[in-house]
Amino acid sequence: MTSSYFCSLIPLFFTNLKLMKFKIIGLAFLVMFGYNALASSYLCQSPNGKIQIRFSLNASGQPSYSVSFKNKPIIEESGLGFKIKDKPNFGKMYKVVSVDSSRFNEKWEPVWGETKLIENNYRSLSITMKDTMLKANIVKIVFRVFNDGVGFRYEFPEQEHLKHFIVDDENSRFNLTGDHKIWWMPGDFDTNEYVYFTSQISEITKKAKKRDGAIFTATPIKGAFVQTPLMIKSQDGIYMNIHEAALVNYPAMDLKFDTTTFEASSVLAHDAVGNKAYLQTPTQTPWRTIVISEDAREIISSKLILNLNDPSKIKDPGYIKPMKYVGVWLEMHLGLSTWDMAGTQAASDAGADGTTKKKTKHGATTENTKRYIDFAANNGFGGVLVEGWNTGWEDWFGNWKEDVFDFVTPYADYDVVGINQYAKSKGVSMITHHETSGSITNYERWMDTAYKAMNRWGSPALKSGYVGRIIPRGEYHDGQWMVNHYLRAIRKAADKRIMVVAHEPVRPTGLHRTYPNFMAAEAARGQEFNFWSEGNPPEHETILPFTRLMGGPMDYTPGIFKIKKSYYDPKAKEQVHTTLVKQLALYVTLYSPVQMATDLPENYLARQDAFQFIKDVAVDWDDTKVLLAEPGDYIAIARKAKGKNNWFLGAVSDENSRTLTLDFSFLDKDKKYEVTIYKDAPDASWDLNPEAYQIEKKEITFKTKIPVLLARGGGVAMSIMAK
Ligand code: NOJ
Ligand code: CA
Repeated sequence: MTSSYFCSLIPLFFTNLKLMKFKIIGLAFLVMFGYNALASSYLCQSPNGKIQIRFSLNASGQPSYSVSFKNKPIIEESGLGFKIKDKPNFGKMYKVVSVDSSRFNEKWEPVWGETKLIENNYRSLSITMKDTMLKANIVKIVFRVFNDGVGFRYEFPEQEHLKHFIVDDENSRFNLTGDHKIWWMPGDFDTNEYVYFTSQISEITKKAKKRDGAIFTATPIKGAFVQTPLMIKSQDGIYMNIHEAALVNYPAMDLKFDTTTFEASSVLAHDAVGNKAYLQTPTQTPWRTIVISEDAREIISSKLILNLNDPSKIKDPGYIKPMKYVGVWLEMHLGLSTWDMAGTQAASDAGADGTTKKKTKHGATTENTKRYIDFAANNGFGGVLVEGWNTGWEDWFGNWKEDVFDFVTPYADYDVVGINQYAKSKGVSMITHHETSGSITNYERWMDTAYKAMNRWGSPALKSGYVGRIIPRGEYHDGQWMVNHYLRAIRKAADKRIMVVAHEPVRPTGLHRTYPNFMAAEAARGQEFNFWSEGNPPEHETILPFTRLMGGPMDYTPGIFKIKKSYYDPKAKEQVHTTLVKQLALYVTLYSPVQMATDLPENYLARQDAFQFIKDVAVDWDDTKVLLAEPGDYIAIARKAKGKNNWFLGAVSDENSRTLTLDFSFLDKDKKYEVTIYKDAPDASWDLNPEAYQIEKKEITFKTKIPVLLARGGGVAMSIMAK
């Protein structure tokens, strides 16, 4: 480790921020000998000098940090620390034992991703402290300061007086400087499938009373609690995002706000007996992350969370292949067919209660699945998902029953071996579905057998699901026990060379860097809500990239062409709250290496011209340019297809119509391109005329600028092919 000019190893016994740039000299011994008679501070700057953190220990030995951006405070002095069970004196009067700083800069290549190379560039500051107890406890606080934000975590080294311990509370705080605007969902350790609220911090409690449309497992925490990723905009236009990275063997963190001081405190998901985490030294917490920029586009482009995760542990990633897929899926969500063979289990009109009033037909039959396989093969899709193929669905929903599924026994009308062979003969992969119905004890018993069966059948990808309350009863989706389960499943799948897409897990924290077989997660309110509830408002997809997607790709299931459910059932009121064109744009704006072409094959075949975009659009990228972005309003992103000279562009609007001027200066200067523009018709809107679109082709260069009118709830999609 090299000491750095920009991260001070010597304690500063003053508080004037302007005095921080002095040279490191041989005063470090003051620190090494535990000099702590006075309050002291240590500073660390980002490589570009714009962001600076200050770590302080006050006169009573309590640690805190603050963050400034371009010399302006953005996080004021905020406490750090822990409450450990049965150790009431833990952390009493810390002393600094040693301080280290280092500089790191590398570029790494993800197995799949939004860009070909990712720069990991930061300065770090680690402060090792011990408390003044007779049998002292040692804690290290490590900061990494990047050009686009800060991460910090606690490390508990191997030590004599702290071995096995239980976390009662983590006291990490984020003391914001004012009543900022935030994009948030209510704190809840059991689901993240909420509509987002937009409000000032001071309004959280008032707004949180309105909890329409939450899923039945919703257990919102009363008071000013919010989930992360939390998106923030200050009055003077600084954007911040608070989340976490590398959530391993630890519960997820929600935030509790003091709505008068605007300070947020960490609140960890607890287990069935009220404890937060069971740890053994040496160990560490996840990183607490604050992405910071005065440009909203840089928040979406940030790779800070990925960079704080460990490099890939998968030695031979050859089996990991981004893909588009179709599936026996929407028909159940629309109530046209059922998950169970007897024909009783579909998503009902009344809501997500898992039952259908009218008896209909089983979706996952051999014959129906072959129809989807043929459609996938004819249109260049890599995968076919089938839900409702295995026995147990009669009993799956809301009963808190332990042994529901066995994950290996197909219904009598589904030939699982023959289907996989048929798919293989057509060059298509089957995506096997495991709905755990929250019964994890049961799933853990079956996982090994079920993954081996997938290997035998030749199915390389798994969609898992965690609908319902968790068994063991009393555990939450976001607690340490479940966090460990999700990762156990991903690791076991990696052992068996299986890709994973998880629905209803804890929200992602960048672990797909370490385990790139973890392709995507739902972990927020997906498209499905539009089919059986009041749905997702038009602004939803302009907020997701600033919140949920900060932690990783989302399996949102875009591509709906039949926007209103009344097409199938004249009495139905439900609808998708976008135009058809915005559904195309989502393939670009909502990043995922697996993307579903969600609508029914017949709806695509009826609109071949618009379907062409879904057939063409890539799912793995060499480059990404966020062109325009404002949370809750609009997003425009262009991406360059992996290994090709083609770009795809998507732009989406909220409930307002707006003109966005798209600037193509990102294109190669010496090339001409043919662009196909899929745009909302002039009279289109999400509610009155959602399916009206126009397609136009023209030649463009890097000098071109195109103003495009996006409808209310609308968008624009473009494929840009080099000539
Ligand atoms: C909820 C998932 O999000 C959805 O994709 C799936 O179809 C149902 N659960 C049934 O497992
Ligand atoms: Ca879901």
